[in-house]
Amino acid sequence: MRIGVLTGGGDCPGLNAVIRAVVRKAVDAYDDQLLGFEDGWRGVLEGSFRELTIESTRGILPRGGTILGSSRTNPYKREDGAQLVQETLARHELDGLIAIGGEDTLGAASRLHADGVNVIGVPKTIDNDLGATDVTFGFDTALHVATEAIDRLHTTAESHNRILVVEVMGRNAGWIALHSGLAGGADVILIPEQPFDIDEVCGLIRRRHARGRYFSIVVAAEGATPKEGTMAVSAGELDEFGHPRLGGIGQQLEREIERRTGFETRATVLGHVQRGGTPTAFDRVLATRLGLAAIDAAHEQQWGMMAALHNTQIELVALADAVAEVRRVPLEEYRRYGVLFG
Ligand code: F6P
Repeated sequence: MRIGVLTGGGDCPGLNAVIRAVVRKAVDAYDDQLLGFEDGWRGVLEGSFRELTIESTRGILPRGGTILGSSRTNPYKREDGAQLVQETLARHELDGLIAIGGEDTLGAASRLHADGVNVIGVPKTIDNDLGATDVTFGFDTALHVATEAIDRLHTTAESHNRILVVEVMGRNAGWIALHSGLAGGADVILIPEQPFDIDEVCGLIRRRHARGRYFSIVVAAEGATPKEGTMAVSAGELDEFGHPRLGGIGQQLEREIERRTGFETRATVLGHVQRGGTPTAFDRVLATRLGLAAIDAAHEQQWGMMAALHNTQIELVALADAVAEVRRVPLEEYRRYGVLFG
C-alpha cells in the first residue's frame, strides 16, 4: 500500500513515537511506501511531503514535537479543500491517510471521510479532551511537567508567604488543571467546566490563612472563566477553527486575589512548556500502540475509524464518534475533590 501520514493541531509529546511505529510496521510487515505530509493538512493541500523510511525515522521515539511539523490549517476553510486532498491522494497514488491529531484535525478527517477520502485517525492532545478514547497521549507528559512546576512553586510560595497562581493549558476541558492540581496538592483548582466565583476563591484562601497556612497554590486552566458579572475578562483572537487564543486568566486572578485579600500574589503561566520535550514512558508506549493499530486498520480498510484506548486495549472507534463532542471533566468528579481545597 501507499499511505500518507500527517500530524496536525498543537504539537504534543509522542507524535514522533506514532510516526515511528507506523513506519516500522508498514515497511517491515507490509512492505508499504509512506509519505509524510508537512505541517498537517497544509502539506496535503499544497502537496509538500517527504518520504518516510525506517532510516529517516530512526532515533525519533523519545523526541518531543513532530518531525513532520504541524499547523492549524483547516482544509474546510477553502471551498476546494476536500477536492485538493483527493487530488493529492490520486497524484501520489495513495491508498489513504493516517491523520494524527486532536478535535480539529480529526474533525476535518471525519468530514473528509464523509466526502470520500480514505483516512484513519490517531488521537493526540495534551488536553485529553477527545471523546471515544480513555486518554490521549501527551496528557501524561503535560501532567508531569505541570505537577513538577507546582511542586517547585510550593517551596517558593511557602518561603515568601505568597499566593501563587499557576495557569495551565486546557481551553475547554480542565483535565490538566484538575490532575496536576490534585497531584501537586493545590489549594484551589479552577476548570473551564465550572465557572468560578472569585469571592469563593478568596474565601478558601482566607480560611487557609486563618488555619495558620500563609501560602496557597491556585491552579487555573487557561479556559477557566469567572461566573458572569463577577470579574472582567478579555477575549483573544480566533484561529482557523474558530478557537480564541487564550492565556491571561492567571494574571487576572493574580490582580484580583491580591486586591481582594491583601495577600501578596504572583502568577506563573506554564504555556507551551507543557507541550514540549521528551514524552513520558506511558505516552511513548500508548503512542506506539496507537501507531501499530492505525497501520493495521489501514490494511483492513477500516477507513473512517480511529485507534483508541479502552480500558487496557487498543480498539477502533468511528472518527465521527470521537469528534462528536469535547470530553470534559464531569462536574460530580470535580466536586468530589472540593474537600481538598482551601
Ligand atoms: O490544543 C492543545 C493546546 O495546547 C491547548 O491546550 C491550547 O489552548 C492550545 O493548544 C494553544 O495553541 P497554540 O499553540 O496554537 O497557541
